Parts: sequence; C-alpha cells; structure tokens
Amino acid sequence: YIYIFLNCLDASRSWLCYWILHSLELLEEPVPTSIASDVCKFLARCQSPTGGFAGGPGQAAHLAPTYAAVNALCIIGTQEAYNVIDREKLLSFLFSVKQPDGSFVMHGGGEVDVRSAYCAASVASLTNIMTPTLFQDTPTWIVSCQNWEGGLGGVPGLEAHGGYTFCGTAAMVILGKEHMLDLKTLLRWVASRQMRFEGGFQGRCNKLVDGCYSFWQAGLLPLLHRALFKEGDSTLSLQKWMFEQQALQEYILLCCQNTAGGLLDKPGKSRDFYHTCYCLSGLSVAQHFGNMDLHHELIVGQEENRLAPSHPVYNICPEKVAQAIQHFHQLSVPTPNT
Ligand code: FPP
Ligand code: ZN
Repeated sequence: YIYIFLNCLDASRSWLCYWILHSLELLEEPVPTSIASDVCKFLARCQSPTGGFAGGPGQAAHLAPTYAAVNALCIIGTQEAYNVIDREKLLSFLFSVKQPDGSFVMHGGGEVDVRSAYCAASVASLTNIMTPTLFQDTPTWIVSCQNWEGGLGGVPGLEAHGGYTFCGTAAMVILGKEHMLDLKTLLRWVASRQMRFEGGFQGRCNKLVDGCYSFWQAGLLPLLHRALFKEGDSTLSLQKWMFEQQALQEYILLCCQNTAGGLLDKPGKSRDFYHTCYCLSGLSVAQHFGNMDLHHELIVGQEENRLAPSHPVYNICPEKVAQAIQHFHQLSVPTPNT
C-alpha cells in the first residue's frame, strides 16, 4: 500500500504541499516556522532549471504543479518563500507553453485544456509577470470552451465539467474578461449541478455527487456574483450566494468526513488530501458570503465548524493574496526573451 501510494502521488508532491497548507490555513492552524522553511526548500528542488515547477524534484515543469507550488509559497508568505520563485524563468516557461491560438499546453509537448489557462493566469498575476502578449487570444479561446449546456468543457466541443468551468471562469476573472462568457447560461448550468437529495454538487450532468465539487462548482457562484454585479445586475442578493449554502454544508459535514480525520468524495470512499482541501474550500465558500467589505456568515452546526474565508479566484486566504501581490508589485515585470 505504501509503495502504491508513493508511486501514484510521486508527480503530485507540489500539490500535496498546497492541499495540506491550504487545509491548515482554512482551519486557522499555524504551521511551525521550521516546517514552513523545509517546504520552501523542498519546493525549490521542484523548480525546473528552465523555469516553472514540477510535481517532484528532477521531474519536468508542468503548469498544474507550478500553480500548486506558487500557491503553497504564497500561503507560507515569508521572504524565503517568495525568493524561491525565479520570476524571469517562470515567465519564459509560460511563453514556452503558450500556443498561437491563445491556449496553453500543460507542459512541453503535452495536452491543451482550460486548466492550463487558469494555472498560467493565476501564477502570472500573483507574481506580477503579466506582459501584454502572454494572454493574447486566451479569452477568446476560453470562451470557445463554453458549450450549449452553459458550462465549459476542457477543450472546445467537450462536455461541460465543473473542474474546467471553474478554471475557465476564474481565468477570465483574472484577465478581466468575464463579461465575454454567457454568464446567465453558466449560472443556470452550475445551479443545476447541486443535487436536490444529497445537497452536494455533481461535476457534470447525470453523474454522482462528489465532495470536491463543493469547491469547483460552488466556487463558481462567488465569481458569477461578482461578474453579474459588475454588469449592474440590481436583483443580486447582498446576503447569500445563488446556491443552497446550508444543504452543501450539511453534505460536507455529515457525509464527507472520515471519523479519524480528513474528508472524502462520498460515504464509503477513503479520505485523501485532495478531497480534504476541496471539501474544506467548498465549506468555506458555503459559510462566507461577500468579500472583505461586505460579509455575511452562515455557519451550520457549532461555531467551531467555522473556517477562514478563501479568495474565490486563487483559493488561498485573501490576506495571503494581498500580501503576495503587494510584495511582487514592488519588483519590475521581467522582459520576455521570446
Ligand atoms: C472527471 O473525472 C474530471 C475531469 C476530467 C477533470 C476535472 C478537472 C478539475 C477537477 C480541475 C483541476 C484544476 C486545476 C487547477 C488543475 P471523473 O469522470 O472521474 O469524475 P465525474 O464522474 O465526477 O465527472
Ligand atoms: Zn472528487
């Protein structure tokens, strides 16, 4: 078992750092300084000599672990953590995976899907390496992933799925182009993915509930609320998101917990760090309406169930986003050598 575990997560070690650190920040559990420093040193070993991060030391750079590593380092938020990131090389890695149609491949010679646009936009905006050409044509490409269902598929023409819909929508928000999406059909699609019996979300039409979609699907509602607010929609609530926040909290608290600790997909499944991170992230979305200025809490059960709020675009705590942006905006944007 240990062999299988180590074997199958060997390329997800940067992700493990993020999933665990984000779970701990939601639980408001401090990380000892020496452990935080060890994580920085480990992630430094995951950074590729040509830029970007891999899932483990000595592996090839890939956009998904690059997103996870940058988020993990921003959660740690120390000078040591920020200094790990080679921004100049990160920018040249991002240009190396950019495609002429505006999309990105996940890694050199790899596949295209909308996760990559989000990972690239997330790390570029957090570390202040956005250039005028890096995301040229990306919004148009992302819009082409939205289909007749209202949600987004991984690439144009594929079935709408919560994971890709979150990635595409969050990338559009980062790029300031969310109005290019059909927000009303998107809203209708995601609201219909909350299961009327279970209270949790499914990833796509006619499939089963899964705790991780508590974030990928429910996390879309803060993005949509803000996007529709920007469009001047005066019918929006100032108290709740457009999904059943209480039902989602009940699904996560009552059906997705392992009694020995950790969270899971659905009853009968085993716990893992991915589901722990995204069940907790979804629980936080369902508990906290609003942003830093306007805030309304709905906590199901005891007060000790309360988690910290999370940033709806980056999925790390909002103060950590603000601190990272403030830090990296003191530095100049590197010049791309493409
Ligand atoms: C279907 O799995 C799931 C996918 C094809 C990909 C989902 C994508 C994400 C969760 C987004 C990842 C985000 C980043 C930032 C890398 P399935 O068929 O096992 O599940 P289902 O039955 O619930 O659809
Ligand atoms: Zn899942």
